[in-house]
Amino acid sequence: MDEMNGKPVGIRGTGMYVPERVLTNKDLEQMVDTSDEWIVTRTGMRERRIAANDQSTSDLAYEAALEALKNANLPAEELELIVVATITPDLAFPSTACILQDRLGARKAAAFDLSAACSGFIYGLANASALIASGMYKNALVIGAECLSKITDYTDRNTCILFGDGAGAVVLGEVPEGRGFRSFELGADGSGGNLLHSRNKYIYMDGKEVFKFAVKIMNSAAEEALRKAGIAKSEIDLLVPHQANIRIIQYALERLELPESKCAINLDRYGNVSAASIPIALAEADRENRIRPGDKLLFVGFGGGLTWGASVLIW
Ligand code: ACO
Repeated sequence: MDEMNGKPVGIRGTGMYVPERVLTNKDLEQMVDTSDEWIVTRTGMRERRIAANDQSTSDLAYEAALEALKNANLPAEELELIVVATITPDLAFPSTACILQDRLGARKAAAFDLSAACSGFIYGLANASALIASGMYKNALVIGAECLSKITDYTDRNTCILFGDGAGAVVLGEVPEGRGFRSFELGADGSGGNLLHSRNKYIYMDGKEVFKFAVKIMNSAAEEALRKAGIAKSEIDLLVPHQANIRIIQYALERLELPESKCAINLDRYGNVSAASIPIALAEADRENRIRPGDKLLFVGFGGGLTWGASVLIW
């Protein structure tokens, strides 16, 4: 069963970038009342990357975009659409996507930002692929990019251990029949907005409540995306989940009856990079040649809004 209408659209190239500076659990022990042992057992995280003072979200996005365009063999001048999913734009306006469009020299491309927190990349994929499937555009660059360190309160141990900076990018375009995106499942529940939001510039989170929501929604969104795609969980070759907490990912693997070897995990090295977590994990899996043509991929994420998204893709 194919729920997607129009031309088949898939991923033609991936890219990623993380800043050089590493913030370890040991470093955090010097900043707040916490321990490496607590962070590793409660979250699975060991270190995260932090942007330099003069680096902003568009700088990280630019590096990831260059790699994705190169891998897709697409000159920037031929790009028709740029979507940047971020909750840490360089400025309120112009959009980070417009800043990037100028730097890339992508003169033909329409450009806009999208705000759906950690689900932003999947929302971006859904929007861009629908515009290509309809025939409006031939290709699109979709990026998840964040400088969460700029909105993290490093005196709050409940949140500062979780977040990092980075960017992941994909180039979308037409693919052969039978390949590409097979389903999208997007959702939102604005009534839960108070559980995870920016307060006085910084991230505020009710960790326990977000955890409960995450476990539930990862399962239901994944199942719905699989159902729409007509694909059984046993057929999944690679799960690419949002990287919020290893325990949330382990619950998802249990429910999908998948071994950890079929999951892209990088939160131990990068923490939670919000909209950038999924595309960074995907780009790494691609770099490591973990994905073969015809493989069935499942993306699933959740975040502030509250929002969630899942998608099935045949590589
Ligand atoms: N170091 C040591 N102790 C800590 C720390 C820390 N860094 N942080 C909290 N604690 C303490 C708490 O104060 C609490 O102490 P208390 O019992 O004396 O009050 C104790 O540890 C246990 O706290 P819990 O909240 O029960 O810890 P939990 O097991 O729930 O783990 C965590 C907390 C890691 C935040 C977890 O709830 C979680 O991962 N939640 C989901 C987060 C998430 O998915 N966010 C995603 C979206 S982000 C976005 O959209 C930008």
